[in-house]
Amino acid sequence: MEQQPLPQLPPASVSFDDGILRAIDVGDVYFSAEDGLAESRYVFVDGSGALNALADASHLTIAETGFGTGLNLLALCEAIAASNSGCQIDYISFEGAPLDAKDARYAHDAFPELASLSDDLIANWPRRWHGVHRFSMLGGQVRVQLHYGQAQDTLPRLSFAADFWFLDGFAPAKNPELWSQPVCHEIARLSKKGTRLASFTVARQARTHLSEAGFHLEKAPGFGRKRDMLKGVYDKGFIRTQTRPAEQVAIIGGGIAGAAMAHALTQLNIPHFILEQAEKIATAASGNPAGLLVPFLSVGDMPAARLSISALADARKFAELHQLIISSGVVSLDFSERKASRQSKLAAQGFPEDLATFLAPKDVADKIGIDIGMGGLYHSAGGVVSPPDYCAALMADSPVYTNAAVAGVSGGEGDWQIRCHNDQHFNASHIIYCGGAATPQLIGSGFLPKKRFQITSGQLSYMPQNTALSSLKMAINYSGYLLPCGAGMQIAGAGFDPDERREVTKEGHHQNLALMPEALKSLAASPDSYSGRRALRLAVADRLPVAGEITDTRYMLTALGARGLTLAGLLAHSLACRIGGRPDFLEQPLVAALLPERLKDL
Ligand SMILES: Cc1cc2nc3c(=O)[nH]c(=O)nc-3n(C[C@H](O)[C@H](O)[C@H](O)COP(=O)(O)OP(=O)(O)OC[C@H]3O[C@@H](n4cnc5c(N)ncnc54)[C@H](O)[C@@H]3O)c2cc1C
Ligand SMILES: C[S@@+](CC[C@H](N)C(=O)[O-])C[C@H]1O[C@@H](n2cnc3c(N)ncnc32)[C@H](O)[C@@H]1O
Repeated sequence: MEQQPLPQLPPASVSFDDGILRAIDVGDVYFSAEDGLAESRYVFVDGSGALNALADASHLTIAETGFGTGLNLLALCEAIAASNSGCQIDYISFEGAPLDAKDARYAHDAFPELASLSDDLIANWPRRWHGVHRFSMLGGQVRVQLHYGQAQDTLPRLSFAADFWFLDGFAPAKNPELWSQPVCHEIARLSKKGTRLASFTVARQARTHLSEAGFHLEKAPGFGRKRDMLKGVYDKGFIRTQTRPAEQVAIIGGGIAGAAMAHALTQLNIPHFILEQAEKIATAASGNPAGLLVPFLSVGDMPAARLSISALADARKFAELHQLIISSGVVSLDFSERKASRQSKLAAQGFPEDLATFLAPKDVADKIGIDIGMGGLYHSAGGVVSPPDYCAALMADSPVYTNAAVAGVSGGEGDWQIRCHNDQHFNASHIIYCGGAATPQLIGSGFLPKKRFQITSGQLSYMPQNTALSSLKMAINYSGYLLPCGAGMQIAGAGFDPDERREVTKEGHHQNLALMPEALKSLAASPDSYSGRRALRLAVADRLPVAGEITDTRYMLTALGARGLTLAGLLAHSLACRIGGRPDFLEQPLVAALLPERLKDL
């Protein structure tokens, strides 16, 4: 059976007649023509009860159907800032037809008092890529998960318990699917006892479906000329139990996985430290001087592609913020017949332009600065970064113990003792194993069958400066890759040798040269002039990373294969949410597909 492609997002078609933002095809306005901000404050921020709750709560989860311009988020941030509340917020919103940033900005301009919050939101405005986008407002106090896609498809894939719901679709008569019975049941499933909702509409369809789903509803005076608004409370659900507090998390391994975990825990204020056996961080696989950020796209809708797309959005943002990009953009060449046929199917499937654009051979030549007579897919959001610099930026605010080779772990759930070979000891409530290729050995065979893991060795070839290849302007990907690294140098990689060899060999350089398209080979200097580096990758047969719980307080983030730089950040943030008892933003089928537990069945 042919697999459905990953759904793409229609752009919102809008008009601004009389300064009012309207969705042309829906025939409705985004917010009140009288005063959208005042309505947002009245109906949602205050009317839901969220404003009151800010005074006492230490954390709230607020969910919204219909992100639109993000006005409700801005009104909420405004209220938090004015109240001096220390409450941490997870704001989870859904949007099926994202606005362009410039349209959202134009809409915000009607409310000058929101100017600086609008600046923050617009600076974080996501790319039009299907899936989850993460950013924060008010210096991290408000963490936003914005799910791009039809809410009726996304809601059933998530797991969280909202304290408040802002129901802000278009009017139910014009936007029936967002008020449908299945969506209202999902809203109830993602609620708990005492969850409150608010909406501008009291339309019968909305009331019937919400009350069937278990909400007690009441009409309240509406905003402006509207007679009524809707308030509701869910009293059927459970009071959710707290997760075990993460008092001190030990991260074992100082590569990209460990570094990304450290960054994610820092953002949630969860105490942690890193134990690294080498004398400095990023010396194993993450010690390569350059590596690619690039999406994995699939013909049909595959979990690995969904993961890769959201992860690339995240990684690119971090790399830009910390000025880590050595060269921007990647071209995946139509190298073999098989790859060319796959790429033309991808191009036909259609992706957003900044995710993948199909280029003819001449356009590839213009982009990369060398004519190799091949077309390919251009990923403008891809790029080359230095993994050690990337790791250092991620770990900048975390305690790191180097020369700390973990020899064993004893104790029990929530109270672990970690012993190092140099006889140093550490205590932790939680442990995250991020040991790269050493992870199977580190965790021992008790938990997971070691034979499920695959280790491969890969060699990079550092090519000499100022050769005919020095005109390469952008990274290219074939069955290996060639990366421009500045100062007229390039790095070529990398084979997958099914062993654990660590020494750089001449044979390895020849192998990297052999991977290149003919037109490049003829420009490359002799392998005798190359130096290089070798490292080990860890993977699993299904080619998905391993990210998740082994026991209540022990976790793994590993098996990142050949894509650790792109994937580690997003996965680490998802794990940190679970450790910190915050709502996970990853879709549950994906979470399940990554769990260590799955290895037992492979
Ligand atoms: C040749 C080659 C080219 C690659 N190119 C790319 C690329 O272009 N893009 C990309 O995304 N990925 C690339 N990869 C893959 C990428 O390097 C890995 O996915 C990533 O580095 C894995 O990170 P990690 O943190 O899981 O493991 P590692 O970087 O290997 O880190 C594990 C760390 O754990 C430490 N450790 C192990 N045991 C212990 C212990 N007992 N106690 C304390 N510390 C311990 C190790 O010393 C090490 O620092 C490439 C890999 C290779 C080999
Ligand atoms: C009334 S507007 C939202 C206004 C918004 N809260 C604001 O501050 O601008 C409704 C939004 O719901 C979105 N929407 C409608 N149907 C949807 C669906 N099925 N899934 C996800 N989003 C949807 C629309 O694209 C639109 O942006």
